[in-house]
Amino acid sequence: MKIIGGPASQLLASRTARALGAGPVLCEYSSFPDGEIYLRIAEEIENEAVTLIQSTPTDSDLVALLQLIDACEGAKSVNVVIPYMGYARQDKKFKSGEPISARAIARCINADRVFTVNIHEESVLDYFPCPARDLDAAGLLGKHIGELGLENPIVVAPDAGAQAIARNVSGDLGFACDYLQKTRLSGDTVEIKTKNVDVEGRHLVLVDDMIATGGTMAESIRMLKGQGAADVYLSCVHPVLTRNAVVRLFNAGVKDIIATDTLEKVESQVSVAPLLAEALKGL
Ligand code: R5P
Repeated sequence: MKIIGGPASQLLASRTARALGAGPVLCEYSSFPDGEIYLRIAEEIENEAVTLIQSTPTDSDLVALLQLIDACEGAKSVNVVIPYMGYARQDKKFKSGEPISARAIARCINADRVFTVNIHEESVLDYFPCPARDLDAAGLLGKHIGELGLENPIVVAPDAGAQAIARNVSGDLGFACDYLQKTRLSGDTVEIKTKNVDVEGRHLVLVDDMIATGGTMAESIRMLKGQGAADVYLSCVHPVLTRNAVVRLFNAGVKDIIATDTLEKVESQVSVAPLLAEALKGL
């Protein structure tokens, strides 16, 4: 199998290729004077089984993925791995007149098979015109957290929606798992606290699928610290970490941010390459 890494997933594609015992295919990336993307697959892929790995955090990353798919004309088969899929959060119309952006994008992916990693909503998989499967990186995050040697930590989801991923991260580690519950005390006051477990003096690991502006996590850290929590770690699959998110989180008192390389940032301490390699090996 030939592995091709798009511009947003060079490291992850190289790691995945290595895990599969293959060399990643070399591609050239540059841009035209007007800013349009130029790319070229610099090796022969005619009649080969090709896997493209490219996250799409920006519109130009999406364009590069579409160009790569088109350039694979002549390949025997094309698998597309979108480790982080931009626009996946717009998975339905929230107001009339809106697009279902995730559907608009999924419909453009002309491939034999698609893989995503912890996509925001699994229902998005149905929008792809080919079989699509979501892979769960929670076990890899859990393994890393287990190796931190934290004494009796609590794994906490910042809301009820993130409970499943928090449970999967705590997996076999035997850590207590809880989620934050918001109670409205009056018109303008809310109380946010852990549902079941007292956090006083305990180390916490807050887990979500992604951290974007950091607003959800910064508020959660402040509140948990106010209740006497010891060190608060953050863990997510997708470190979108846009604008001033990192500074907001450090101002709130985060101990460390542990994320995967679905987006290649300095916080991407855990690679999902073994997960991708395992899924691709089975094809
Ligand atoms: C929302 O449904 C997601 O699971 C995350 O909780 C959210 O995207 C985080 O966004 P932010 O970091 O901007 O608060």
